[in-house]
Amino acid sequence: MAYDLTDSEPISLYPEADLRSFAKQVLTALGASDEEAEIVTDGVVTAALRWHPGQGQGLEKLFRYRRRIEEGGIVVRAAMDWLTDGPSYALLDAANGFGYVAAQRAMRKAVEKAKQSGIGMVGVRRSNHFGIAGYHAMTAAQEGFIGWAMTNARSEMAPWGSAQVVLATNPWGMALPVPNEDGVPVVLDMALTMSGKGMMRWYLEQGLEIPDSWALTPDGRVTTDPAAAMDGPLLPIGEYKGYGLSFITDVLTGVMTGAKFGLSVFRDEQDYDVGHMMVAFNPEVFMPRSEFNERLERLVLEVKSAPPIDPEKPDMLPGEIEHRRTIERQREGVPIANETVSGLRRLAHELGVSSPF
Ligand SMILES: NC(=O)c1ccc[n+]([C@@H]2O[C@H](COP(=O)([O-])OP(=O)(O)OC[C@H]3O[C@@H](n4cnc5c(N)ncnc54)[C@H](O)[C@@H]3O)[C@@H](O)[C@H]2O)c1
Repeated sequence: MAYDLTDSEPISLYPEADLRSFAKQVLTALGASDEEAEIVTDGVVTAALRWHPGQGQGLEKLFRYRRRIEEGGIVVRAAMDWLTDGPSYALLDAANGFGYVAAQRAMRKAVEKAKQSGIGMVGVRRSNHFGIAGYHAMTAAQEGFIGWAMTNARSEMAPWGSAQVVLATNPWGMALPVPNEDGVPVVLDMALTMSGKGMMRWYLEQGLEIPDSWALTPDGRVTTDPAAAMDGPLLPIGEYKGYGLSFITDVLTGVMTGAKFGLSVFRDEQDYDVGHMMVAFNPEVFMPRSEFNERLERLVLEVKSAPPIDPEKPDMLPGEIEHRRTIERQREGVPIANETVSGLRRLAHELGVSSPF
């Protein structure tokens, strides 16, 4: 579900460069290596540029990363290890390091494999929260490949027909290597649930009702009350079909990689053991690049030529809203929730880093 910010929402705007410098200092103060601090900073700032603050993927993630580093759930400078390294596949043991770093290494390896073999499929076990799935998919697209990034997560979704959580939001990021004629990268980046707990909390704080398609009460009733839904299961996209996708995604990211899956992901504070799967496809194995580009552009054109039902709302490609937001926020400032700002101020003080807040 796409969320637009309104003028009444409790946010403040900050220049992107200030946020980058701040996040990097925080991560360095927490013991991250230069490479780790660079990757995680780029991830959380990209998230802040693309998403609504209530989606909870921006600088507010620094609070959780700090807590996990201090509790031992995230190991800084982790000694990640390649367990398998074949012609078109590999498996990474992320040694409880940063999920962003593990996923980036895995996607870069998938791209290397796809250059040689046409496809690269790289699993990751013993990882952590990898942030926004589209970020890792875009890494492949920037190199000319189709990228597909998936992860499992803490159980928040029930099997269709139950109210007992077993599966998770298990997001997918899919990115295409050719920008369309407007220069907009095509990036489908989505949780497999209609929304998330962070957004429900945002609605609760704003005194708003949630759509009745977002979540159930713990005893399985449909509700529009975010407080009543807070401890219940999140509803999948496309009803039982989204549940099916989440199940399969847990097989690809958890069962198949040797990571935890289902109920056990993110439960042991010393060993969250999140699993990811990164896939890169090389379109040139089937036809010359120029032909692929021309065919993709034709499909984009057909999609963009479909007349909108409401002329005020032209149809968009996946990732188009986020791309427009990014450009606007790079110009006018990146929105951070006021509550997050207070927390970041405290964080800066406690870690002794300079703060733009
Ligand atoms: N790491 C994790 O555990 C985790 C878990 C859940 C979500 N996430 C991340 O959170 C972010 C937000 O996910 P989300 O599912 O809330 O996103 P969303 O529902 O806002 O958007 C999902 C996708 O739909 C597209 N879209 C939205 N409106 C559209 C429209 N009108 N026309 C065409 N396309 C449209 C967007 O471009 C996007 O690709 C993602 O980056 C996701 O990867 C991460």
